Amino acid sequence: MNLTQLPSWQALSEKFGTFHHARMQDLFALDQDRFKKFSIQTSDLFLDYSKNRIDQETLNLLLRLADECKLETMIEALFNGEKINFTEQRAALHTALRNASNTPVMFENRDIMPTIKNVLDRVETFSNTVRNGKWRGHSGKPIRHIINIGIGGSDLGPKLLAEALCQHHHPDLSCSFVSGVDIKPRLENLDPETCLFVVVSKSFHTKETLANAERAKTWLLDVFGDKKAIAQHFVAVSANTEAAVAFGIERENVFEFWDWVGGRYSLWSAVSLSTILLIGMENFRELLAGAWRMDEHFRHTAFDKNMPVILALLGIWYGNFFGAQSHAIIPYDDRLSGLPRHLQQLDMESNGKTMTRYAEAVNYTTGPVIFGSPGTDCQHAYFQSIHQGSHLIPIDFIAPLNNPLTTKDQHETLLANCFAQSEAMMRGRTEEETRAMLKAAGQTAGEIELLTPHKIMVGNKPSNTLLFDEVSPQSLGALLALYEHKVFVQGIIWGINSFDQWGVELGKELAEQIKRDLHREAPGRHDGSTEGLMAKLRSGRL
Ligand code: F6P
Repeated sequence: MNLTQLPSWQALSEKFGTFHHARMQDLFALDQDRFKKFSIQTSDLFLDYSKNRIDQETLNLLLRLADECKLETMIEALFNGEKINFTEQRAALHTALRNASNTPVMFENRDIMPTIKNVLDRVETFSNTVRNGKWRGHSGKPIRHIINIGIGGSDLGPKLLAEALCQHHHPDLSCSFVSGVDIKPRLENLDPETCLFVVVSKSFHTKETLANAERAKTWLLDVFGDKKAIAQHFVAVSANTEAAVAFGIERENVFEFWDWVGGRYSLWSAVSLSTILLIGMENFRELLAGAWRMDEHFRHTAFDKNMPVILALLGIWYGNFFGAQSHAIIPYDDRLSGLPRHLQQLDMESNGKTMTRYAEAVNYTTGPVIFGSPGTDCQHAYFQSIHQGSHLIPIDFIAPLNNPLTTKDQHETLLANCFAQSEAMMRGRTEEETRAMLKAAGQTAGEIELLTPHKIMVGNKPSNTLLFDEVSPQSLGALLALYEHKVFVQGIIWGINSFDQWGVELGKELAEQIKRDLHREAPGRHDGSTEGLMAKLRSGRL
């Protein structure tokens, strides 16, 4: 299948030719119901996508594209555990982790729901024991501080959850997340008697994680001088139980997950153990329930009212027809500051690929550069470029309608900023308006001439706004599942495998090679630049 030859793609190209200058403001003026027409409500989320450069015809064509790409069949393949990650011969069954129905989920002729339930029950028992103080450290004290050692999907998702759900934290527990290569400075201020290390690694091969875990283990053994201390202060979450046991962690302290869950899709499993210790299992189950409701919406709602499908199609419209290369995620709540980082891995590691399922290089662009940070901070940093720069950067504004951690007035101020940004990006400011504004401000004729060109804003910048009641486990679950499905839909349309990540492997291999070669003569093995850099590191001097 060649995507660009599909009838809907061709029709979209034509539509782009005639429509790309259309102004959203004019489209609003033409249709009083635009907001109602181009918005979707699910049990947990509300999406306003009316501030996009689309009309009904564009949307219909995009929906046709989804049909021509056999999206419906592929959604069923996803939920039914087919090995859609064909380069690794794996299913992508993260949806099974939050399956709240009594329906079995079959994988390789076996219902996997009992296994999932069993691990969740073990996690619940363990987390209750830690939370109620019955789990004791080696010297008999209860656990007070958790250190999550993991990287990528074994860090970003759980960390986001922990930060976002801070008002649900156990009052006597805290947690730090260590993902970089050196845990040493963190150990210096740690009380060994009350700390618990949670080593999270799907593969249990990741160098950074293992180096940190080894260092933590050595530190703990130095303090206690007793190997038995490991059992009380170390647990692991992994799809490779044997490697975790070989590392020295008690088998009963290893919480399992499975090959059919991708690292960046794993926060719904025991991978979130550190966070579960903080927020309790009940809240975690609420998170799963929110995600499950989004799964049901995605699986059973017609595409024209299907939130992940619509978000995905809008992304295709901008990326493949307007030439947008990036996409900004802007949450208006500091608790969600980890959201852009998590979605960055989710989207870029999934869809940053150029080889199709049919082993043909794409002749169209695929996954965009995802970036973002909490509003209003970014308004005072890079929003200038979104307003007046030369790149088209579609935005998702994300905000809770209520925030019990602040005053109503303060929250309304924050959201006024959020809504103002999407309005400003759409409206811009014409030359006429700019001149009138400067005149009203008492500027001289000369100043008006000088300033007008610089203060004009072309506007017509697209954005989506996603709202929910509060940053609750349920809304967060729905929000994260929404983006997982959006990324999935885009991967299907682009014809790529969203569930492997071969690109990161080469860097890992070379890092090992460089580490090995650093202190031995290996002429010619690396290029001149890399050899030069290695020489500097070897000598420790510039
Ligand atoms: O190198 C990329 C990656 O494999 C991610 O996909 C993954 O989330 C991360 O590394 C950590 O992997 P692991 O959980 O196996 O340590």
